[in-house]
Amino acid sequence: MEVLGIDIGGSGMKGAVVNVETGKMLSERYRVSTPQPANPQNMAEALRGIVRHFGWSGQIGCGFPAAILHGVAKTAANIDDSWIGTNVEKLFSKTTNCLVKVINDVDAAGLAEVHFGVGKNVRGSIIMITLGTGIGTALFIDGMLYPNTELGHIIMNGMDAEHYTSNETRKTQNLDWDEWAQRINEYLAYMEALFWPDLIIIGGGGSKYHEHFFHKLKTQAEIKPAHLLNEAGIIGSAFYTTVAH
Ligand code: BGC
Repeated sequence: MEVLGIDIGGSGMKGAVVNVETGKMLSERYRVSTPQPANPQNMAEALRGIVRHFGWSGQIGCGFPAAILHGVAKTAANIDDSWIGTNVEKLFSKTTNCLVKVINDVDAAGLAEVHFGVGKNVRGSIIMITLGTGIGTALFIDGMLYPNTELGHIIMNGMDAEHYTSNETRKTQNLDWDEWAQRINEYLAYMEALFWPDLIIIGGGGSKYHEHFFHKLKTQAEIKPAHLLNEAGIIGSAFYTTVAH
């Protein structure tokens, strides 16, 4: 079955048609910048543009950068606060005239890795961590997702961890690869002390540069870059429509 997967982040909104049985993208990826202010009206309009680009009228799975409970956004760290309390599924379904299912963006990316990527057939506990505009996390046990973990917001050195360690912070503070790797290591040590995962998967925009910093990371658990890199969010969002209630 073909589903349009759309990965919405703090900086970009990316879509592609995905075969949800194989986890393969069937079209080129289409990206637009996340509009500013990143409020419901502007983002719904941008989403409509992506759907038009594909001439799509079927099902859509959408990853969204917030805790999502039964289609409703509960948080808004890198998007406009007016999202909080908005039923994203209803708004996007109405805007596009398609059936839209919405899941947290990193839960979506994690689903893709666990079903089609580096976490496939892995038993035990997995933490997927994305380093992008913010930090997102997804927790799995024997392939089952515990949703909306929001562990990018634990407090480290007196601040929100994502403000200390995200890829955005690397850029704005001009951190070199050593400095950034050091901060990621502090964050990973904190995660390991709390969760003792068997496998850590690193994804998100920052994972594009993994050859610069991955060898500097030190963990007790096995650690791997996301297999599907930046496509995981799109593939997992589409796949989510097959397991959503
Ligand atoms: C948000 C999460 C999101 C992550 C990555 C965080 O700031 O709170 O919901 O998954 O950024 O986009």
